[in-house]
Amino acid sequence: MPINYNEKNKTFKLDTENSSYIIQICEENYLVNLYYGAFIPDSCVPNRSRRATNASFSPVNPRCGFSPDSAPMEYATSGAGDFRISALEIQNSNGDSVTDIRYSGYKIYDGKNEIPMIPSSYVNDKGEAQTLEIYAKDEVTGAAVTLYYSVFSKYDVIARRIRVTNDSSEKMRIERAFSLCLDLPDMNFDLISLYGCHAKERNIERRRLAHGIQGVSSRRGSSSHNQNPFIALAQNGADEEHGDVYGFNLVYSGNFSALAECDFNSTTRVIMGIDPDTFSWELDSGEFFDTPEAIMVYTSFGIGEMSRLFHRFYNNNLIRGRYKTEKRPLLINSWEAAYFDFDADKLVDFAKEAKKLGVEMLVMDDGWFGKRNNDCSSLGDWYVNEDKLKGGLGNLIKRVNDEGLKFGIWYEPEMISPDSELFRAHPDWCVHVKGREPMLGRNQYVIDMSRKDVRDNIWEQMYKVLSENNIEYIKWDFNRNISDAGSVLLPHERKKEFFHRFALGTYDLMNRLVTTFPNILFENCSGGGGRYDPAMLCYSPQIWASDNTDPIDRLYIQFGTSMCYPASSMGAHVSANDRTGYGTKCNVARWGTFGLELDPTYLTDEEADIIRDEIKEYHKNYELVNRGDLYRLISPFENPYRAAWQFVSPDKSRTMFTLVTMRKEFRPHLIVKLRGLEPDAYYKNERTGEVLSGALLMNAGLDLTNTAGQTGESTVIYFDKVE
Ligand code: DGJ
Repeated sequence: MPINYNEKNKTFKLDTENSSYIIQICEENYLVNLYYGAFIPDSCVPNRSRRATNASFSPVNPRCGFSPDSAPMEYATSGAGDFRISALEIQNSNGDSVTDIRYSGYKIYDGKNEIPMIPSSYVNDKGEAQTLEIYAKDEVTGAAVTLYYSVFSKYDVIARRIRVTNDSSEKMRIERAFSLCLDLPDMNFDLISLYGCHAKERNIERRRLAHGIQGVSSRRGSSSHNQNPFIALAQNGADEEHGDVYGFNLVYSGNFSALAECDFNSTTRVIMGIDPDTFSWELDSGEFFDTPEAIMVYTSFGIGEMSRLFHRFYNNNLIRGRYKTEKRPLLINSWEAAYFDFDADKLVDFAKEAKKLGVEMLVMDDGWFGKRNNDCSSLGDWYVNEDKLKGGLGNLIKRVNDEGLKFGIWYEPEMISPDSELFRAHPDWCVHVKGREPMLGRNQYVIDMSRKDVRDNIWEQMYKVLSENNIEYIKWDFNRNISDAGSVLLPHERKKEFFHRFALGTYDLMNRLVTTFPNILFENCSGGGGRYDPAMLCYSPQIWASDNTDPIDRLYIQFGTSMCYPASSMGAHVSANDRTGYGTKCNVARWGTFGLELDPTYLTDEEADIIRDEIKEYHKNYELVNRGDLYRLISPFENPYRAAWQFVSPDKSRTMFTLVTMRKEFRPHLIVKLRGLEPDAYYKNERTGEVLSGALLMNAGLDLTNTAGQTGESTVIYFDKVE
């Protein structure tokens, strides 16, 4: 059993195939963490210090010597003797916010329950996970806390979250409630995070932990371009193949905080959850509050293995719906081909030409609704612009379908243009606070998704278009962050609930759509990859990674994104930008979902031939990329000349190796060692016919000195196992 309670030493032991996590109920019913790391087979427990030092507090029962200030607290609370960053703070009706929870019971069961209204990971069958609920209570505030741990053994994943229930007869306010808290016994780690901005998302940043608090957060109303809700702690010196690595990823699309504090004992506390500065939540007597879920991964086999564990887990236990497993249509998107300047004939011309290349779906991007001919109007008016699309939407879709392509459409449901019929009818529906003119971002306001009446209106408009037309894909965009955060409907004491209520509102609308239209493929987007997070993967199996489609810049974006997000989710298109030829553009886009973002009527015959061949290769290797294991071989963040990666099929029978030269090196000498193959098996180079052992390919490697290439060139080599 993955979860066991040992009455003798009062420990809960949570085991995955390669990791163990141990919690102990100790003095005064405090809950402490004894261990998280490589699998420990027996039931002995490490003797982890929890004693007061001379200078630290032992506030409860001085004789027991227990100090919350230096003990490895399982879920740290504020103000009761632990001075490090805390995971929970409850303010009671007196206004006091000292919080102190003690163990009161537990439950273990097979499977995992959903979180009401919040997207989360799931089990395909009950045997895939076991869940531990630990109950703890603050006797003074009356806050009852449930700590949830769902253990997915096969993926070395523990999914964590908490619920706070108001067991008192008075109101209480949650000032902070993190999804995860973890105390590690040393600080010999590097913190890895993903920073960026529009068109430059998810750059890998690695820094050594230092004493004090460090970390990342977003207060933009979305998980954001700027910091991703992912961090890892990698043992100093750990690399792609070696070393202890802990990965943490929050299944949430709103404001978040992921922090690490190294204290005076040189231990490390990690907390991850909803950003406390922009949050509070009032609970009436008997009500409860659920946090989103944080996914925790541990491996002793380096950063690459951490990523593969996330990828496999997300492909199997987070992404859902028809297109979790069914092959997704390869699409052409109208945005970079036409921007707002299109009509029905132009789109049908795109479809005709794209069909010849092997494309399977045409997506009509921004500009089809209201009076929208630029980004200054019409968001919120979700009816077709018949001046532009003469003959109507149904007619256009039929023409595209007649060319043999499916049809997809763009929406930005969480926004409203000041120049729109919807805004003129409901000026109070935009996110704003009383007495202040809200800021414009890309000439638009955010619509108040925390309001049900607003969501119902958007839902009805979308339902009409989607139920009357053969639409098989939606690109859901979100092009600005949330300033002037507030909802006129929220009373004074609930104002700080706005951001979380907004996220819940978005989830509600997405949920209605995916359940009513289960055959529609959703692609999430946020001015490129500004909301690339696990929660969005619950609704949209693919996410547009960036508006930057330059293949060299994309290498950085794709390497960074792959830290925790699988290739199956990565929206990657070939565009008309000219930094490299089409061969390299395609080879880079074949890391992700692949698609076209260009006007196909402008392609030369030679360019069209390259794309047609690459699309054939894409179709042929769809499963390998979509379900295979990724090995990052040469990172553009570490090598100025080139990047290389490899996909290996789950049965290790086929691999695709890609090398891209970002900058020509003078007198290169290049040996690349492949990864993930069977050492004893033999593999045939598809191009040369040469047969080499897995051991040779992984230990001696490939000598690619003569293939190293000119700037912008690339090579793809396939190897197949021979019997
Ligand atoms: C931002 C997206 O990232 C683009 O692909 C495109 O859909 C535009 N928005 C449309 O406004």
